[in-house]
Amino acid sequence: MTILVDQPQFGIEVEEKKVPNSEKDLILDGGFVLPHANTFGHNFRDYDAESERQEGVEIFYKTNHINQSYDFVKKMREEYKKMDKVEMSIWECCELLNEVVDESDPDLDEPQIEHLLQTAEAIRKDYPDEDWLHLTALVHDLGKVLLLPSFGELPQWAVVGDTYPVGCAFDESIVHHKYFKENSDSHNPAYNTKCGVYEEECGLDNVMMSWGHDDYMYLVAKENKSTLPSAGLFIIRYHSFYALHRSGAYKHLMNEEDMENLKWLQIFNKYDLYSKSKVRIDVEKVKPYYLSLIQKYFPAKLRW
Ligand SMILES: [Fe+2]
Ligand SMILES: [Fe+2]
Repeated sequence: MTILVDQPQFGIEVEEKKVPNSEKDLILDGGFVLPHANTFGHNFRDYDAESERQEGVEIFYKTNHINQSYDFVKKMREEYKKMDKVEMSIWECCELLNEVVDESDPDLDEPQIEHLLQTAEAIRKDYPDEDWLHLTALVHDLGKVLLLPSFGELPQWAVVGDTYPVGCAFDESIVHHKYFKENSDSHNPAYNTKCGVYEEECGLDNVMMSWGHDDYMYLVAKENKSTLPSAGLFIIRYHSFYALHRSGAYKHLMNEEDMENLKWLQIFNKYDLYSKSKVRIDVEKVKPYYLSLIQKYFPAKLRW
């Protein structure tokens, strides 16, 4: 199945490649295989599967949903916007991220740099001309350094997992939604209506998302004046916003630009999810290509 999606910003048409529509393995253009099972032999994002991580993942989301309040997010954004923690390049950060394990992810059991490069290389095969998309894939998870001591050593629930807006009602499509009952915002009439503190079609840029590696990496790119296009920044910022890109929730808060960018996010997301598999990457071989992209889109030394 091939779907054509308009993408006026770049003046080209985005041709979506081979959408996975069954549980069977699919071959993407360029020979990239979409596996039907993850490292643990379960379907991807199957939070009910009997897996050794299942219980840990549920406890993770319980803590996350109780603590991600409007006030908490506001505080975190103010603190991390200062960019006063570390100075390092994108590639240095990729190497640093190898020390991090993402407990919220039921699919991933490999070094993060492999995941980053698997995702980037899979997209590169299918969209060879969109170099900004290759780099977006490489950097999309770098915000996970928030787990490390020099970045504040935040707990997992404040770094990884699905994200969602705060300041308005928590949508029922959010994973383990029942635990929001214990979030104080659920009982605050200013925050618990459909629009909450926002207005219809105000644009996601005006909406505060639960705090984590997505919004942090977006802030890093923005504050350091990255030249990535708007769709790249959108992907970085909302790639864990599953209620939006999988369930179609919160569309009432989006504006036209968000709608356009969402098309790219949906393309990206398939690769983010399905490249978490046993495809090995020769890091040294692909490194020069990604260094050239870093030079192009993040020309200055980065402040984190
Ligand atoms: Fe991520
Ligand atoms: Fe990812």
